[in-house]
Amino acid sequence: MSRNPADLVRANVRNLHAYHPVEAPESLAARLGMPIDRIVKLDSNENPYGCSILVQEALGAFDRYNHYPDAQAERVRERLATYADTAADRIVVGTGADEVIDLILLTIIDPGDEVIVPTPTFGVYRARTELFGGVAVEVPRDEHFELDMDAMLAAITPRTKAVFVCSPNNPTGNMAAQQQIVRLLETGVLVVLDEAYYEIAGKTFMPLTREFDNLAVLRTFSKWAGIAGLRFGYAVMPQVLVDEFWKVKPPFNVSVAALLAVEASLDDAEYLHMTVNRIRNEQRRLYRLLKSLDYLRPYPSVANFIFSEVTRGDAHDVHQLLADRGIMVRAYGDPSLRDYLRVSVGRPEETNRLITALQTIGARV
Ligand SMILES: Cc1ncc(COP(=O)(O)O)c(C=O)c1O
Repeated sequence: MSRNPADLVRANVRNLHAYHPVEAPESLAARLGMPIDRIVKLDSNENPYGCSILVQEALGAFDRYNHYPDAQAERVRERLATYADTAADRIVVGTGADEVIDLILLTIIDPGDEVIVPTPTFGVYRARTELFGGVAVEVPRDEHFELDMDAMLAAITPRTKAVFVCSPNNPTGNMAAQQQIVRLLETGVLVVLDEAYYEIAGKTFMPLTREFDNLAVLRTFSKWAGIAGLRFGYAVMPQVLVDEFWKVKPPFNVSVAALLAVEASLDDAEYLHMTVNRIRNEQRRLYRLLKSLDYLRPYPSVANFIFSEVTRGDAHDVHQLLADRGIMVRAYGDPSLRDYLRVSVGRPEETNRLITALQTIGARV
């Protein structure tokens, strides 16, 4: 019998690529000897205006942190049902949409099952499918990053357990079309529709959950509500999968703080939507400014980030030169995305610093 702990590791884990999270702003600030509030963080599509003040008040005023959270998140699910115009008993919750994705995959994947992933898209779908023993079947999007419907439909086999569609798509920023989603749903396969950026795009396919019992719609409070650090996501699930999901979910995954923060955010939804409006306006300005640079080709986006091809010089050099100035944007290790950068929409003064830096860098590359 082997005594080497390395032999204990599951093959699926051994074969997984190590996840390289983006550098923490605290580390970058320390490396550059720059105060943290000078760092411009445009790499994770967060809300640059922060969370509602009601969240901070609710967390400060609460005095029962010694108790475990409500494992069923009853009150929050009731509130979300109203917010998302659905039934509370179809809502499941997790520590971010990330965990909801994990729990859906854990619920449905047997070894060798297939999950269709139209690329480029959010890397988690593929990585977690593989971790859980599934096979991610990647289907490239077309040259405008639209879904290649013929290829998607042709990729469906008897082993297909789910199709993931992100809309608006991270990183490309474009929406799927309703008839594309309907065509996928009509095949009977489970469609997991990731609407992490719904509030920013203002368009949802949620009404289709009333028509189709093979649609799961994922949402998060990380982006529009500005509580990425507290971790909360949810999904409206097909009724038949809800009970199975609850079996898989760790009972006390979502913290008391996250539950309080979700309720406080919903209490202050009007204010949050005002910040979303600001982000939308700034997004249009950022797009125009990026387009004015002769070495970037930004793609139109309806989300709070813009994907750009670096047409001269090296995207990784640009990324590094920005980081040297305390500006964090997203670059990609994946060879097919090596020439691209994704920039989140920040506050106007952050856009200004970014564009000034990009102009300087552009003169050199
Ligand atoms: C498309 C998409 N889905 C899910 C997530 C994860 O969100 P959460 O913070 O709720 O885990 C992200 C975060 O970047 C995302 O871009």
